[in-house]
Amino acid sequence: MPDPETLSCYKADLEPPVDAFKGAMRRFASGVGVITAGQGDSRRGLTATAISSVTMDPPTILVCVNRQGEAHQAIEQDGAFCVNILASEAEGVAMDFAGQTGRVGTDKFASFSWSTLATGAPALDGALANIDCEITERVETASHTVFFGRVLDVRLSDGAPLIHFDRKFVRLEN
Ligand SMILES: Cc1cc2nc3c(=O)[nH]c(=O)nc-3n(C[C@H](O)[C@H](O)[C@H](O)COP(=O)(O)O)c2cc1C
Repeated sequence: MPDPETLSCYKADLEPPVDAFKGAMRRFASGVGVITAGQGDSRRGLTATAISSVTMDPPTILVCVNRQGEAHQAIEQDGAFCVNILASEAEGVAMDFAGQTGRVGTDKFASFSWSTLATGAPALDGALANIDCEITERVETASHTVFFGRVLDVRLSDGAPLIHFDRKFVRLEN
């Protein structure tokens, strides 16, 4: 019988296989997004790979965002976010928004060109796709919030994607 608290059939005293799980996820190649929210000086954003489509009718996406980051509060406050899917040449954007170049807050936006779509969240010019969403649901789990977004607007460009694999950014050529 599953334990009703955890819905698990496995023994609670087993050590969770954290390192093996990290190893497994390092082997999962994924596209790279920058999730943005807010306007003007309250704009915030983060690089993210925990992004998934949920349903097509209505068009819905989910993103998993660490509650400790600055961007979490902006997304929460705004009730909206934009998922910007990065092109292969946008490794610099990914590094800036992952906090790997020392940029924080609005300063992350300084080197790039931005527009707005339906919600007013920043949409990166030249991204392969800008997916502009209003939040419909949120689920808090451990360190992260899973935000579900109803897609209100999409802007597309053609090009090759930036890929993240084995803790490195890889360019996938067309
Ligand atoms: C390839 C890559 C993928 C990431 N994916 C996520 C993610 O899905 N969710 C998340 O909360 N943080 C993710 N991060 C970490 C955030 O980008 C990083 O913590 C960032 O500095 C948070 O910015 P903030 O403090 O402005 O919110 C990822 C980092 C990298 C390099």
